[in-house]
Amino acid sequence: MAMENMMIKEITENKKEYLNLLLLADEQEDMIDRYLDRGRMYVLEDNGVKCECVVTDEGNGILEIKNIATEPEFQGKGYAKMLISFIAREYSGRFEVLQVGTGDSPLTIPFYEKCGFVRSHIIPKFFTDNYDHPIFECGIQLVDMVYLQKSI
Ligand SMILES: CC(C)(COP(=O)(O)OP(=O)(O)OC[C@H]1O[C@@H](n2cnc3c(N)ncnc32)[C@H](O)[C@@H]1OP(=O)(O)O)[C@@H](O)C(=O)NCCC(=O)NCCS
Repeated sequence: MAMENMMIKEITENKKEYLNLLLLADEQEDMIDRYLDRGRMYVLEDNGVKCECVVTDEGNGILEIKNIATEPEFQGKGYAKMLISFIAREYSGRFEVLQVGTGDSPLTIPFYEKCGFVRSHIIPKFFTDNYDHPIFECGIQLVDMVYLQKSI
């Protein structure tokens, strides 16, 4: 991939400008509102915004990816992996673990494993208890939240 025009920047204001991308990763806006203000948001630009990520300080040296999404027509080009590498570098030394919670879905778990995360624990019934409607990915209803972690 040509790197010349690529940059990653932090977004501190008007984070909802990227709502379409945020909703790709988390389809219920009031769930996004639970972490967007306290989260730090980054976007990767490469001739326009291609990928965004929101991370939160969960205490005990844990930094959590709450939301990550790549524009659909630009998925599979390495953008999200690059943004995760940037986050890991940026927060290394200040945090010990980078973690992410996701549905048990073939669309997301293999991606995180490719990025070096390993399964850590689950929160049973997170999706059915917290979302106001059933969430489906690949025709499978998401029920439990699966956490994956990587040392940074
Ligand atoms: C998940 C998502 C963020 C990945 O972004 P992306 O920019 O397409 O990912 P990358 O191109 O950086 O992929 C990195 C690696 O993961 C692999 N990968 C990505 N999605 C995969 C999938 N569904 N199954 C298997 N491997 C996958 C890629 O092939 C690549 O492998 P490589 O390093 O061997 O080349 C993107 O698909 C997306 O925005 N999905 C919708 C939003 C979403 O579900 N977000 C996660 C919420 S928890």
